Amino acid sequence: DGSAPTTTASPRPTASGPWEPPADPMAFPDGFVWGAATSAYQVEGSTKADGRGPSIWDTFAAQPGRIADGSTGDPAADHYRRWAADLDLMKALGLGAYRFSVAWPRVQPTGSGKANPKGVDFYRRLVDGLVSRGIHPAITLYHWDLPQPLQDAGGWPVRATAQRFADYASIVFDALHDSGARWLTINEPKTTASVGYGTSAHAPGADDVEQYAAAVHHQLLAHGLAVQAFRASGATGDIGIALNLMPVYPTTDDAAAATRRVDGVENRLYLDPVLRGTYPDDAIGDLAGQIPASRPAFDALVHDGDLATISAPIDVLAVQYYGVSGVDASGQYQQVAPTSLASWQQVRPEGLYDLLTRITADYPDAPPLVITENGIPDPDAQGTTDDGQRLDFLRRHLQQAARAIGEGVDLRQYYVWSLLDNFEWAQGYTQRWGIVRVDFDTQRRTPKSSAQWYSGVIRANAVSP
Ligand code: NOJ
Repeated sequence: DGSAPTTTASPRPTASGPWEPPADPMAFPDGFVWGAATSAYQVEGSTKADGRGPSIWDTFAAQPGRIADGSTGDPAADHYRRWAADLDLMKALGLGAYRFSVAWPRVQPTGSGKANPKGVDFYRRLVDGLVSRGIHPAITLYHWDLPQPLQDAGGWPVRATAQRFADYASIVFDALHDSGARWLTINEPKTTASVGYGTSAHAPGADDVEQYAAAVHHQLLAHGLAVQAFRASGATGDIGIALNLMPVYPTTDDAAAATRRVDGVENRLYLDPVLRGTYPDDAIGDLAGQIPASRPAFDALVHDGDLATISAPIDVLAVQYYGVSGVDASGQYQQVAPTSLASWQQVRPEGLYDLLTRITADYPDAPPLVITENGIPDPDAQGTTDDGQRLDFLRRHLQQAARAIGEGVDLRQYYVWSLLDNFEWAQGYTQRWGIVRVDFDTQRRTPKSSAQWYSGVIRANAVSP
């Protein structure tokens, strides 16, 4: 239990060398914020309600063979209708913050033009409901549900989409200007670019490295334009971007160069432009490990002033951490740690320590850090509430977060992915990531063991060593 200190602890080896854990519970700083996260398409359902327009995920999920179990985001966890009870549950668990996303196609059904008042009202009610329960809102503006008409016009590989995003963001900033929220512009631009446009595993299902590269730049530009719009709006709160980052380790002596390039693809392609105003010169090209797109074509997308826009100061850097990978000399990903039910997830808690300390060392001007996602699917899809593996995963990652804080990392908040079992994109409902079980037949919610344990961590503001 997170509130019960254990008395003895022995040193354990880590990727970064031996570590002596402190004897007493590993305390987090006063005011540390504990939360849980979801996203609109994954939990809301009601995809046609109140004037919502179609998104690329509605289109994609409707195509045969795209989703493992042939499912869609309807009804998901029916959160659009059950939100009030879900907020009560968050309060009962003691959560200090809830990270959710605004569905762009609810607010602007065609992706441009004037706002749909009924869509905006839903998020107004949600924010008011959070605030009245003493739960802080963290609002992601884009969590992958691009309005379909914008994809029909080219989607993220097209520059105009960045401006459309800034227009939409302005509507939301105005509507929720007094929310004091933590705003997050784009969720995981790497995932959208790589698997949405590069390998077709996610919506919109494109398979083209040039589109992959263009989607990187235009999402980052969209982020920068939205930060500008936020400052101009006078909305309260603070703002950042949510980057999924992954430490990579060479698996052989001759793999250092390829590993460095893969680090460019996984990490520096996003960190450098946002925090330094430059693109790394080793992430795109023909060498082992690089994104095999044309570098001149990529450079031509980057107009004068874009990097200044992208690197405008942010208040917080949001990190999403799931695991690590090894890399061999030919730039191929290799397994160096046990995988979860999600085959891409190699679990190594020490990687979180490596990542947080590396950002702090390499980007001394980085703003304070928050972890906006960290979690694991149930080991099978049976939907048990006895999720000892998740509890252990979270405990070991929080120990590494505490260790990093102890060494000077300025980490302020932590959000579990996810509050609820939900629609796990191309895996549909075959992967359950919630600390709360959802019975998709009845929509009944049951906190799992990990949720009870997490409540104890929150109460103690500490994790057992
Ligand atoms: C990252 C994404 O932001 C989230 O939507 C997804 O469910 C989790 N990873 C787990 O794959």
